[in-house]
Amino acid sequence: MRAIVIMEPGGPEVLDWQEVPDPEPGRGDVVIDVAASAVNRADLLQRQGHYPPPKGASEIPGLECSGTVIEVGADVEGFRPGDQVCALLAGGGYAERVAVPWQQVMPVPAGVSPVEAAGLPEVACTVWSNVFMTARLRKGETLLVHGGASGIGTMAIQLAKAYGSRVIATAGSAEKVRRCLELGADEALNYREEDFSVKKADVILDIIGAAYLKKNLDALAVGGRLVVIGMQGGRVGELDLGKLLAKRASISAAGLRARPVDEKGAICRGVVQDVWPLISAGAIKPVIHATVPMRDAAEAHRLLESGDHIGKILLVR
Ligand SMILES: NC(=O)c1ccc[n+]([C@@H]2O[C@H](COP(=O)([O-])OP(=O)(O)OC[C@H]3O[C@@H](n4cnc5c(N)ncnc54)[C@H](OP(=O)(O)O)[C@@H]3O)[C@@H](O)[C@H]2O)c1
Repeated sequence: MRAIVIMEPGGPEVLDWQEVPDPEPGRGDVVIDVAASAVNRADLLQRQGHYPPPKGASEIPGLECSGTVIEVGADVEGFRPGDQVCALLAGGGYAERVAVPWQQVMPVPAGVSPVEAAGLPEVACTVWSNVFMTARLRKGETLLVHGGASGIGTMAIQLAKAYGSRVIATAGSAEKVRRCLELGADEALNYREEDFSVKKADVILDIIGAAYLKKNLDALAVGGRLVVIGMQGGRVGELDLGKLLAKRASISAAGLRARPVDEKGAICRGVVQDVWPLISAGAIKPVIHATVPMRDAAEAHRLLESGDHIGKILLVR
């Protein structure tokens, strides 16, 4: 098959579309003929050599895909050749074929095209697992979403609104602020001009890390839950435990990629049960900024790096 190979750590130019061996599926794997994949911020780090794949995962980048099942292992449950699916991957998505444990495979939600579905697994699983399973956002509570126009942010705004929460989003330009409001955010502010720490939120979905730790703590309501899923603003910060204690608040942090298959399976089951129906009903729409041929993955990486995008950038076969 052909796939994108990272020739050496570096800029987008190190991504090369070339012949590689087909994946070797295990007994519990589904093999997918890939229709599309999508670019995630983690892929940029992997390309630069800062985020190696977990042990046993493919060296080929790509944390999600959509396509058609072409082979199922002896232990696979619930999937057959010909099924239209999307999947959460530990790697290997920028390729013509990928093998993935069946627990991480999901049907394409009704009403979504097979290509659009490629941009759903990472954002749906990340938001569902952190905001709903871990932080237990409830109806009527307020969610503060940083980077509301990111792939993750566009899903977080829509999902929290669909579940009856109030949403405040931050973004770095007037255009992105406008899109956050269009997606349903009750308030959106340009973090370059306004201070979000004066707001009050029951749950904060944070992608900045150290640089926002103090302000996030200030913005937490009593009983608030801060969930850190990204460290774009650094990983080491100072924490005022007194403030945390006074607010009876909590902080959690989680990555998705290295979680064991059974945990990813539980997240995917939750997403299929509780997120897909909202997508099929039109309450949540995939937000796609651009669709780029997979062999031109370098161009897609440049686009994501520019920060000009809103939502997901897809890679199509
Ligand atoms: N832990 C996990 O399991 C997991 C899974 C998936 C993604 N993530 C993380 O989630 C984040 C979003 O991922 P993505 O793939 O959706 O990437 P993305 O679309 O490239 O989003 C990055 C966003 O960060 C925003 N941003 C940068 N500086 C900011 C600041 N100071 N305050 C608020 N927003 C800021 C940018 O928007 P502006 O132009 O508005 O600044 C941009 O929209 C990344 O940090 C990624 O690593 C974590």
